[in-house]
Amino acid sequence: MSFLRKATEMSISRAHNALLVAFLCFTSLSSQQACGSPGSTTTINSNAAATSLANCSSFAGSIAIGETASGDVYLNGPSEIVGNLVVENVLALTSLNSDTLERLDGNFSLQNMTLLSTLSFPLLTTVVSINFHALPNIAGFTFTAGLSSVSNVTISNTFLSSLAGINLLNADLVQISNNPHLLNADLPLETSKQGIEFTSNGISLNVTLPQLTTAGSITLNNVSFAFFPSLSFLSGSLSVQGNSITALTADSLSVVTQDVILTENADLKEVSFQGLLSAGSIDIEENPLLTTLNFGKLARAGDVNIGGNITVIEMPVLTSVNNTFILNSTDPEFNCSIFDTDHANSIIKGTYSCQGTHQVSTPGPGPSPQPGLSAAAKGGIAAGCVVLAILLVIGARFFIKRRGWKRQEAATAFGTDGKAEMEHHEIPRNELPAGGGRHELSEQHGVVEMVARDARVIAHELPSEPLGIDGGGPAREVSG
Ligand SMILES: *[C@@H]1O[C@H](CO)[C@@H](O)[C@H](O)[C@H]1NC(C)=O
Ligand SMILES: *[C@@H]1O[C@H](CO)[C@@H](O)[C@H](O)[C@H]1NC(C)=O
Ligand SMILES: *[C@@H]1O[C@H](CO)[C@@H](O)[C@H](O)[C@H]1NC(C)=O
Ligand SMILES: *[C@@H]1O[C@H](CO)[C@@H](O)[C@H](O)[C@H]1NC(C)=O
Ligand SMILES: *[C@@H]1O[C@H](CO)[C@@H](O)[C@H](O)[C@H]1NC(C)=O
Ligand SMILES: *[C@@H]1O[C@H](CO)[C@@H](O)[C@H](O)[C@H]1NC(C)=O
Ligand SMILES: *[C@@H]1O[C@H](CO)[C@@H](O)[C@H](O)[C@H]1NC(C)=O
Ligand SMILES: *[C@@H]1O[C@H](CO)[C@@H](O)[C@H](O)[C@H]1NC(C)=O
Ligand SMILES: *[C@@H]1O[C@H](CO)[C@@H](O)[C@H](O)[C@H]1NC(C)=O
Ligand SMILES: *[C@@H]1O[C@H](CO)[C@@H](O)[C@H](O)[C@H]1NC(C)=O
Repeated sequence: MSFLRKATEMSISRAHNALLVAFLCFTSLSSQQACGSPGSTTTINSNAAATSLANCSSFAGSIAIGETASGDVYLNGPSEIVGNLVVENVLALTSLNSDTLERLDGNFSLQNMTLLSTLSFPLLTTVVSINFHALPNIAGFTFTAGLSSVSNVTISNTFLSSLAGINLLNADLVQISNNPHLLNADLPLETSKQGIEFTSNGISLNVTLPQLTTAGSITLNNVSFAFFPSLSFLSGSLSVQGNSITALTADSLSVVTQDVILTENADLKEVSFQGLLSAGSIDIEENPLLTTLNFGKLARAGDVNIGGNITVIEMPVLTSVNNTFILNSTDPEFNCSIFDTDHANSIIKGTYSCQGTHQVSTPGPGPSPQPGLSAAAKGGIAAGCVVLAILLVIGARFFIKRRGWKRQEAATAFGTDGKAEMEHHEIPRNELPAGGGRHELSEQHGVVEMVARDARVIAHELPSEPLGIDGGGPAREVSG
């Protein structure tokens, strides 16, 4: 019985607790409401009007601040706005704040507000996209929790000196431009699908992206320092144009699908791309202090265009340049030999031009070989030479036999005094190549040298200087 009473007491107490919870829920709901209506825009024209949000837990639809609003506006109440927050051309607005907003499931757009100096959203972490433009009085943000989830960030024409408070890890597009006081852009970004642009900001902007591994494109202009030690892949381009950087290091970068562009960087002295395997194109020009380039692992590129005061370019493992390859160094001594060879070997497939010194690889008497002789042509010549060698050997053996039958008893005289008895027509003269051409070949191809040596050996078994196989002179003598 006592057990039963205890159980009943427990269930009563449970029911009491449940009632209490329900009551608390009800009272809390009565002051914390869902406000607004989905898809619509509510315009707030003053800070007084903004107090109507005080009991809203979330707000459906967009909120705009009317152009007549002025002074400080507090959007306290909702922790979430399911829509955009649009504040444009509110010329007398001095501060915009929300101590409660955590999420903005839409765009946060601030534009053209000359007096706005304070932006304080200490709990805000999530926004679909940020577009802050023409805010000449904004020197910093108060995003204490840190904006960690934003797809697109566009910040232009502000007085920001740093991006502190923007703690993005993964973004779609980040565009930071024309912020003349921006000195530091240190972002924890790991990926940026579309890419990252820093253009026309302060003259000494330090861009630090220590965790960035992959991105669409990276564009840097008017940057004095850039650091992306983990960057390994760009599905777009790397464009570094018009900067004051002195060194650019991207040693983890292995693939750039589109272009690597380094141009007009007046102070750039050192460039390091130790891991780059392939690039859509490489364009390096007008960096007056840049003299050496080392692309130690570069195997493939669509186009290569390099100009300026470059004295050394290392591309030791290049296997394919699909289109044009132009090296236009100001150094008249620039050594083009390796690239001449790459072109000769069809590693460089399209238009090729290298200004500098060219070394002829096999100088010798007679006309020098075409530097651009294709591998196929060389193969053809080599094959021809092998056939010739075989014919020579067969011919010579046949000749020896014939001689042997005719002059069995005089065999010992061979190699000393057989000249007069030579039968000139035994080896048809027209099977021998023209003298000059044969020289050229014999110096290019091991196989031909062997033929020549073979022929000399045969010649020794024959009466001395029998057929002029070694040169034009004796051949003329024989045939003449
Ligand atoms: C918010 O709720 C409180 C308490 O229920 C109430 O006194 C106040 O009038 C409400 N404010 C607004 C703007 O609805
Ligand atoms: C800024 O707002 C003012 C006032 O509405 C307007 O006259 C001006 O054209 C705007 N400027 C820009 C660049 O939008
Ligand atoms: C946010 O802005 C982008 C363009 O910048 C637009 O495509 C998108 O529809 C906007 N989002 C909302 C919720 O209006
Ligand atoms: C971000 O910007 C890119 C490029 O402009 C656009 O394609 C994409 O829709 C934008 N994303 C959002 C969420 O606004
Ligand atoms: C750039 O900024 C990073 C971190 O913000 C700092 O460690 C580095 O020293 C700065 N570099 C220069 C050249 O100012
Ligand atoms: C920024 O870059 C542009 C284009 O390269 C250049 O004309 C301009 O002088 C640079 N500005 C500064 C302040 O360095
Ligand atoms: C080469 O260097 C000199 C001296 O620094 C500079 O004046 C010239 O503009 C540079 N040429 C190129 C093409 O960068
Ligand atoms: C070069 O051409 C080949 C075949 O057309 C293609 O598969 C390859 O992707 C190209 N490489 C580059 C770097 O453009
Ligand atoms: C090579 O560079 C010089 C200036 O440095 C330029 O005048 C010339 O047109 C360039 N030639 C090619 C083929 O690009
Ligand atoms: C040019 O480079 C080739 C290959 O590295 C080398 O054999 C040759 O000696 C160099 N020529 C000069 C003039 O340095």
